[in-house]
Amino acid sequence: MPWYSSEMIEEVRSRSDIVDVIGSYVRLRRTGSTYMGLCPFHSENTPSFNVNPSHQLYKCFGCGVGGNVFTFIMEYEHYSFTEAVKFLADRNGIAISGGEMSEEQKKRESIRAAIIEINTKAAKFYYALLKSEHGKYGYDYLKSRGLSEETIRHFGLGFAGSGGVELYGYLKKEGYSDTLLKETGLFKMDERGAYDKFLNRVMFPIMDISNHVIGFGGRVMGDAKPKYLNSPETKVFDKGRNLYGLNYAKKGRKKAFILCEGYMDVIAMHQAGFTNAVASLGTAFTEYQANIIKRYVEEVLLIYDSDEAGRKAALRAIPILRRAGLSGKVVSLNPHKDPDEFIKAEGTEAFEERLSSAVNSFFFEITVLKDAFNLSDPAQKTKFIHETAKKLLVFRDKVERDSYLEAIAAEHGIPKEDLKNLVIRYGNSYTENYEEPLERRTERKKKEEKGITYSYQLFLSELIANPNIFAQVKEAVSPKDFFVEVYREVAGLLYQQLEEGELIPAKIVGQFEEADTQKIVADMFQTDYEMDMSLEEREKAFIELIYKIKEYSIENRMRGLTDLNELQKLVKEKKKWQNPGNLHISLKDG
Ligand code: CTP
Ligand code: MN
Repeated sequence: MPWYSSEMIEEVRSRSDIVDVIGSYVRLRRTGSTYMGLCPFHSENTPSFNVNPSHQLYKCFGCGVGGNVFTFIMEYEHYSFTEAVKFLADRNGIAISGGEMSEEQKKRESIRAAIIEINTKAAKFYYALLKSEHGKYGYDYLKSRGLSEETIRHFGLGFAGSGGVELYGYLKKEGYSDTLLKETGLFKMDERGAYDKFLNRVMFPIMDISNHVIGFGGRVMGDAKPKYLNSPETKVFDKGRNLYGLNYAKKGRKKAFILCEGYMDVIAMHQAGFTNAVASLGTAFTEYQANIIKRYVEEVLLIYDSDEAGRKAALRAIPILRRAGLSGKVVSLNPHKDPDEFIKAEGTEAFEERLSSAVNSFFFEITVLKDAFNLSDPAQKTKFIHETAKKLLVFRDKVERDSYLEAIAAEHGIPKEDLKNLVIRYGNSYTENYEEPLERRTERKKKEEKGITYSYQLFLSELIANPNIFAQVKEAVSPKDFFVEVYREVAGLLYQQLEEGELIPAKIVGQFEEADTQKIVADMFQTDYEMDMSLEEREKAFIELIYKIKEYSIENRMRGLTDLNELQKLVKEKKKWQNPGNLHISLKDG
């Protein structure tokens, strides 16, 4: 694979005008300072696909996709980043040559490529073993779980034997060094030697969105513990950034994804024809994963296990989906444990029915909330109503909130006016912690971290739309105030451009290698409030964003500080940011 230097990439990007490139695929019409057209990534009748020539970015307000000229080509032509660069260079007659990677980049890239190559060989090895006489035990196990030959092949399932060094021996013969093999996480190594990590398990290769094998899950064939063993995180495997089954699910053009817990659930659903099923890999669902999903669909059907853990996991996932702008619904599998068991017991049609009777995630949350109170006790009932009112504040759009309010009032026999008055009352003393009664404190902390990234996005987007406020803004907020790594990096690059008086957000997007990261970065520049606001409201909201970012930053800097003087300084600074001062910022109307 060729490698292009960042200068080369920027050269190609700056010479590939986004309106020109996208205009050759999509009929665009000028509206004011931007162009609109029908989105090529979802079907629509009224244009919501926007191309911004001054930022050199595009964004669909319907399905949420967005990015720069490279991500457009990657998405449309199904190219990798490098292929997209090459394609655009050729299109514009730019001669580009590869091989100008820095030494460090070269090394990193070659290790990543080697890990994927070894993983691929391991997957083939496990698959061959499964199909051989030695793998009969594993093969029979998978068959006994109802998997067809075709499903086994499609998902590349395999078998790890009990020899202890089978895979290791094979890969050594193929000529790989121990140092490299160690990087794959497939082996245990100590002074005495190297051993296969996975023994006597059926193997599930985990593929990324481009079908690269990035890791494995292995299941015991009986009741031994641990039931599943997974690859550790490696240079190519980041659990929170991948979804099992996504490489297949993304190909469908369904309007929703089904989000479940396990490997077997994904596989059983795909086998039954529900090819839009994905799973978060044995870890809690992350905001990053939600943002990936948002690129393909508008809606997520949560189908977690029927037990208490599954219910909790659903409750944690719902706000994450909401923040990513996805609508969530919860599917009940009762009385069965998980999708795999449900399909086996009741069949495809019954499953389909469950999917279509999924409940709106907000109603689900309220039902769970209700279960926590004894409603025959008037005091508890009052408490339930208060908590419901607080929860309704997640809807910032009044029309949406009112329709939920009415539905909830009717469903749970609460007088509508009472609930309305409470919502207004809590709305006036609005805090971010409205969900606290339901969740434990540590969870709130985690959530704050997610809430802050939305603030970062709004802040950066507003700044790009109003570069004239930069001089004022930089006095208050610096890139160091961003406490999530990629945001800090992007803020740094953006500030640098604004300092130099050259604002090209698409150039910043192009500075990140990973396609997924590029899209996340593009979103940072094109996030808008979820409701319509007057200019005055926007200005007020922007100042609130500054306060929020500062407060969060100071709190983070305070954490773990032992120097008393420093601490006192920060306490003072924090006070300053807690009281609205006389900061005034004028935004453009737009
Ligand atoms: N998991 C894991 N490690 C474990 C147990 C579970 O990584 N020790 C992850 C796996 O991704 C698994 C998912 O959590 O698929 C759900 O776990 P569980 O519900 O226990 O398993 P099932 O998916 O139902 O697997 P099976 O049907 O094979 O029992
Ligand atoms: Mn199961």
